[in-house]
Amino acid sequence: MKTLPFLVSLFFLFSCFLSLVFSLDDLPMQCLDYQRSSLLQLQHDLYYSPNFTFSSKFELWDVKTDCCWWEGVTCDAFGHVIGLDLSYKNISGSFDSIFDLHHLQHLNLAGNNFNTTLLSYGFDKLPNLTHLNLSSSCFHGQIPVKISFLTRLVSLDLSNQDDCYRIYYHFLDPHNGIYDDDLLPYELQRPLKLENPDFKTLIKNLRNLTELNLDGVDISFHSIKWCKTTSLVLSKLQVLRMSNCGLKGPLCSSLSKLAFLSKLFLGGNPISSLPPNFLEISSRLVSLSLANCGLSGYFPTEILLLPKIQSIDLSANYDLMVEFPEFPSSSALRILSLSGTYFGGKVPESIASEAELRIKELAKSFMPAIFWILCI
Ligand SMILES: *[C@@H]1O[C@H](CO)[C@@H](O)[C@H](O)[C@H]1NC(C)=O
Ligand SMILES: *[C@@H]1O[C@H](CO)[C@@H](O)[C@H](O)[C@H]1NC(C)=O
Ligand SMILES: *[C@@H]1O[C@H](CO)[C@@H](O)[C@H](O)[C@H]1NC(C)=O
Ligand SMILES: *[C@@H]1O[C@H](CO)[C@@H](O)[C@H](O)[C@H]1NC(C)=O
Ligand SMILES: *[C@@H]1O[C@H](CO)[C@@H](O)[C@H](O)[C@H]1NC(C)=O
Ligand SMILES: *[C@@H]1O[C@H](CO)[C@@H](O)[C@H](O)[C@H]1NC(C)=O
Repeated sequence: MKTLPFLVSLFFLFSCFLSLVFSLDDLPMQCLDYQRSSLLQLQHDLYYSPNFTFSSKFELWDVKTDCCWWEGVTCDAFGHVIGLDLSYKNISGSFDSIFDLHHLQHLNLAGNNFNTTLLSYGFDKLPNLTHLNLSSSCFHGQIPVKISFLTRLVSLDLSNQDDCYRIYYHFLDPHNGIYDDDLLPYELQRPLKLENPDFKTLIKNLRNLTELNLDGVDISFHSIKWCKTTSLVLSKLQVLRMSNCGLKGPLCSSLSKLAFLSKLFLGGNPISSLPPNFLEISSRLVSLSLANCGLSGYFPTEILLLPKIQSIDLSANYDLMVEFPEFPSSSALRILSLSGTYFGGKVPESIASEAELRIKELAKSFMPAIFWILCI
C-alpha cells in the first residue's frame, strides 16, 4: 500500500529531472542565422583532401540540425559560435568564412592539408580569440602580422607545418619510412617564417600567452634577441616550444624572469652555451629539451637532481659531458636522454641499479615512453 505514493513521487522526481535535462539542452544554445550561414559557407569552401588530392566535398554537418550541435562547433548561451575545432579532418580549401564568426574564442585547424600561406586571412577580425592552433597543417611563408593583434591569446600553436607533407611523402617513399633529407621536396624547404613581422613584433602584444609553440618556424632572421624579448614580454608563459627555429645562443639569463615556466623545449637550435644562472632557470622546470643544441663542456650536474624535473633531453650534443650524480630515491626524473653526448667518467653503481629499477617501474605503471638512454 505504501509503495504506490512512493512510486508516484519517484515518477515525478524522474520527470522533473528529465525536463530539467531537456530544458537545459533546448534552451540556451540555438543557432543564430548569420552564424549558421557563415558555417555553411565554410563547409562549402572546404573540401576533403587526403593525400592533397581533391577527394570529395567536405560534408561534416547536417544542414537540417541546429548548428550549435554540429561536430566541432561550440556556442555560447546566445547562440554565438565561440569555438571551432576542425583538427585532423584532412581538409583543404579556403576558410575565409571563419573570420565572420567574430565571437570565436577557440580555433583549431591543426592537422589538415592546407598547403597555402596565411597572408590572406583576417585574423584581426577575431578580437576575442584566446586559443589559436594552426599546427601541422602545411601552412608556409610569412606569419601574418594580423596574428599579433590577437591580444587576448592565451595559447598559440603554429608548429610543425611540414608534418603533413612528411606523412604524404612517406606514402610515396618505396622504402616506407626513412626519408632522405637531401631529397627534400620543395614544400619542405619553405616553412612558416618570421621575418617581417619579426619575432618581437609578433609577440610584443601577446602578453597573456601561457603556451607558445613555434616548433619548426624559421626565426633565424634577427634571432639573437629572441630570448630577452620572450623573457621580458611573455611573463605568464608556462610552456615554451621553439625547437628547430634557427635560434642563436647563448641562452639569456633573463629567462629566470619567467616565474611560471615549466616546460622548455629548444632542441635543434645552435644555442651552444648556457647562462650562469641556468640552474635557477631550471629549478621550476618539469621538462627540458636542449637536444642537438651544440652544447659543449660540462652540463651542470645539479640540474639532474632538481626536485621537480621529470624529463631531460640532452641528446646529440656531441661535445657535452654529463656526470652522473647519486640519485636520491625521491628523484622525480623519469626520462633522461643522453644518446650522442660524452661521458668520460665511470657510471656509478647506483645509476645502473637506479635505471634498472625505473625500467621495472615502467613495466608496472604502463607509463608511455620512458627512456633511459645511457651512452657511455
Ligand atoms: C593516400 O595514398 C596512399 C598511396 O599513395 C594510399 O595507400 C592511401 O590509401 C591514400 N589515402 C587516402 C585516404 O586516400
Ligand atoms: C587523413 O588522411 C590520412 C592519409 O591519407 C589517413 O591516414 C587518415 O585516416 C585520414 N583521416 C581522416 C579523418 O580522414
Ligand atoms: C602545394 O602547392 C603547390 C602550389 O602552390 C603545388 O605545386 C604543390 O604540388 C602542392 N603540394 C602538394 C603536396 O600537393
Ligand atoms: C568579446 O568579449 C567581450 C568581453 O568578454 C564582450 O563584451 C564582447 O561582446 C566580445 N565580442 C565579441 C565580438 O564576441
Ligand atoms: C589578460 O588576462 C587578464 C587576466 O586574466 C585579463 O584581465 C586581461 O583582460 C587580459 N588581457 C587581454 C588583452 O585580454
Ligand atoms: C593543437 O592541436 C593539436 C591537435 O588537436 C594538439 O595535439 C596540440 O596539443 C594543440 N596545441 C596546443 C598548444 O594546445
